[in-house]
Amino acid sequence: MKIYIEENYEKVSKRAALIMASQVVLKPDSVLGLATGSTPIGMYEELIAMYKRGEIDFSNVTTFNLDEYYKLPIENENSYYSFMMNTLFNHINVKKENIHLPNGMTESVEEECKNYEEKIKKAGGIDMQLLGIGGNAHIGFNEPADKLSVDTNIVDLTQKTIKDNSRFFDNEEDVPKKAISMGIGSIMKAKKIILLASGEGKAEAIRDMTNGYINTQVPASILQAHPDFTLIIDKDAAKLI
Ligand code: GLP
Repeated sequence: MKIYIEENYEKVSKRAALIMASQVVLKPDSVLGLATGSTPIGMYEELIAMYKRGEIDFSNVTTFNLDEYYKLPIENENSYYSFMMNTLFNHINVKKENIHLPNGMTESVEEECKNYEEKIKKAGGIDMQLLGIGGNAHIGFNEPADKLSVDTNIVDLTQKTIKDNSRFFDNEEDVPKKAISMGIGSIMKAKKIILLASGEGKAEAIRDMTNGYINTQVPASILQAHPDFTLIIDKDAAKLI
């Protein structure tokens, strides 16, 4: 595990963008695993700026997002599909057919999860996976539990996650209670993984995921066992390590 502790959120975003951009420059047909949440927004803005300056070309890139809310129409501004379109995809030259998110509106969850895994495999696997982290150390929507799912699956969101994510919705009752998420195995199969965290609210999760132990109650702790894992955090998130 490599750890970068940066002065602030802006520096976290810049370093992450440079790492992601290098991946695409060195391998223009990279398969990128992407994440939602507020943390990667700064990194996405940097990547858009690089694209506009002609420094990076996404025309051969394929993307797979980590997760999507269950039964939230993609037209809803809080769907992860809308988030990704508005925050990144509408501003770069990635081809629409190369963009993938789990279909939360599916009639057959089991089939959708299986298909998502198949699509990742068919694309050649994920070259670089971007992650944020929940306040309870969830990654994607893999919540603390006695057992963690290997493959893409449907998950019940914890009360903490529902509460944390309610800031984007009009009220807490509107937050979906379930999501389709890549599993821990789908994430760990990525060739490289980078995780970004910023702010004191993530300090405990960062402490618990870097303490040398793997604990299913701290889903991100498994990343310590990945052969090419980079943590990019600011001083506030690093406060307890
Ligand atoms: C959601 C997403 C995660 C993300 C987390 C943290 O639960 N499913 O992928 O890492 O939020 O979000 P934020 O970056 O806004 O703190």
